[in-house]
Amino acid sequence: MKLTLDPCTPSQCRPLPDFTRLEFGKLYTDHMFTMEYSPELGWQNPTISPFKNLSLSPATLVLHYAQEIFEGLKAYTRVDGDVGLFRPRDNFIRMNNSAKRMNMPEFDIEIALNGLFKLLKLDKRWVPPQEGASLYIRPAMIATDAVIGLKPSTSYLFYIIMSPVGPYFKIGEKGLNIFVEEQYVRAVRGGIGEAKAGANYAASLLAASEAKKKGFADALWLDGVERRYVEEVGTMNIFFAYGSKVITPKLNGSLLPGITRQSIIELLKSWGETVAEESIDINTLIADIDAGRCTECFGSGTAAVISPVGSLHYKGIDHPISGEAIGPVSQKIFKALTDIQYGKAKDAFGWTRTI
Ligand SMILES: Cc1ncc(COP(=O)(O)O)c(C=O)c1O
Repeated sequence: MKLTLDPCTPSQCRPLPDFTRLEFGKLYTDHMFTMEYSPELGWQNPTISPFKNLSLSPATLVLHYAQEIFEGLKAYTRVDGDVGLFRPRDNFIRMNNSAKRMNMPEFDIEIALNGLFKLLKLDKRWVPPQEGASLYIRPAMIATDAVIGLKPSTSYLFYIIMSPVGPYFKIGEKGLNIFVEEQYVRAVRGGIGEAKAGANYAASLLAASEAKKKGFADALWLDGVERRYVEEVGTMNIFFAYGSKVITPKLNGSLLPGITRQSIIELLKSWGETVAEESIDINTLIADIDAGRCTECFGSGTAAVISPVGSLHYKGIDHPISGEAIGPVSQKIFKALTDIQYGKAKDAFGWTRTI
């Protein structure tokens, strides 16, 4: 399928921001990628055009029933000056899995990847030059039928927009203080927790706000049935180190299969370390933290790569993990992943892609 290119005229292209003062998601690049779906024609019209507002009927299905999915990945300036991406194909594979779960049409991954690469080439000047800052890439798919009867949409819009963002987290800071959430749940098994659907994030907002109001950095989610098994931390997967052994909750349908999570598992295995995906009982975990058996905890995700957790607040009591210091396992994984991403270390896994 041929990609239509409708670039900005020089006068339409906007001045670049000060890359040292970026706020998350406030500014967008000059262009966007779009394609549309209809039942008769399937996906059609892949186009790159100037970034613009969408025009939608107030009846549009996505606005009422949240039939929407998205992805999040980053492009960054590598040490050799090239623009790098980390496992972009995996984001589109996950997006197609989310589409299946949300009764939305899958798309051709090659068309989406080609659209993304062309978009990045066109908006390359928007990729911040300094390490840590990046161009955040947001693919999304929305249901566009202008019908408020509850049913799956027949028409959809897929688009990719991009936003320059500052460093999310600097390793070397104190670990996060996290509130273990017992009242609210993010997702339940059989629900849509393993899909990257906007509705999951709407469901998480109240708990995250309440945790922040109480002075915590974010909420740790427990399973929705027994409120007993650890699932995720904020919008990250979670890992625990017991000396050199590392464990993470197994994928059970209600947590997001993170690409950073998968990369950490593959990295640890390549180092010959023991890494296990298992059910993690919060009571056992807290006892292990208090006894010093659990030596580190960290979240993983595209935005921060690794976010060390310094303390878990459970049933009114703070449980500091190894004196809240950032531990060697988090630091080693953070360095290994970012060195691969920035082209400072050999990518033996074939994870990176340059534009
Ligand atoms: C709920 C949730 N869990 C985990 C992750 C981490 O996933 P990834 O490593 O693919 O960014 C994210 C971020 O995308 C998320 O939103």
